[in-house]
Amino acid sequence: MRTTDQPAPSPSATANATRDDRQAALDALRAKYEQDAPHQHFVTAHTNIVFGDGSPNARLMFVGEAPGADEDREGVPFVGRAGQLLNKMIQAMGLSREAVYIANVLKTRPPGNATPTSEEARTCAPYLFGQIGIIRPEVIVTLGLPASRLLLDSTEPMGRLRAKWRVFTVPEGHDPDIVPADSVGQEVMVMPTYHPAFLLRSYTKENREKVWSDLQQVMEKLGLQPA
Ligand code: URA
Repeated sequence: MRTTDQPAPSPSATANATRDDRQAALDALRAKYEQDAPHQHFVTAHTNIVFGDGSPNARLMFVGEAPGADEDREGVPFVGRAGQLLNKMIQAMGLSREAVYIANVLKTRPPGNATPTSEEARTCAPYLFGQIGIIRPEVIVTLGLPASRLLLDSTEPMGRLRAKWRVFTVPEGHDPDIVPADSVGQEVMVMPTYHPAFLLRSYTKENREKVWSDLQQVMEKLGLQPA
């Protein structure tokens, strides 16, 4: 029980926070990211910060790799070709883009769309953990290897990571202005699947079926009906 001499918990971090509380906490986290600018420690090719997009109350969150040229231009994740495929996947799950939350491991575009190094991912990770801690999704779908490896602290290849439920636990040891203290230890079910950009490059029936079967497991967990 909280006594009067204890500070009020951040509203963002409580399980029953309102949508407005969560949006305010996400806005504050974005401002903190802009102030800290963790990407200053590595080379980027960005003009805009691409922080995240969607509902602060989302039950389902998607985590990709890093913004590309289209995302950098618009400041919104997954708006290019891979984003259009992701939108179709979300719709096929019976959801709208506005109902989910989409973020990336890196919030700025790497030069030549390079894969984030593990050091870059580690430097930016607390802000992603903060987004997860504020939103408290029931399920996270990690899109591709960098997001899957970061959240699952794994070095397994994508073919072995996908299709199986895993658990992400919000880690301790980060600045509470970035990762809400009340979210530390929170567990979220994770379904890793192939990145839509990989699917576009290898658009085979087999790969499409694999991704759809991963997403069907997510739909079953969340009680969603296909569109
Ligand atoms: N690929 C990603 O991983 N993220 C984006 O936002 C766009 C493409």
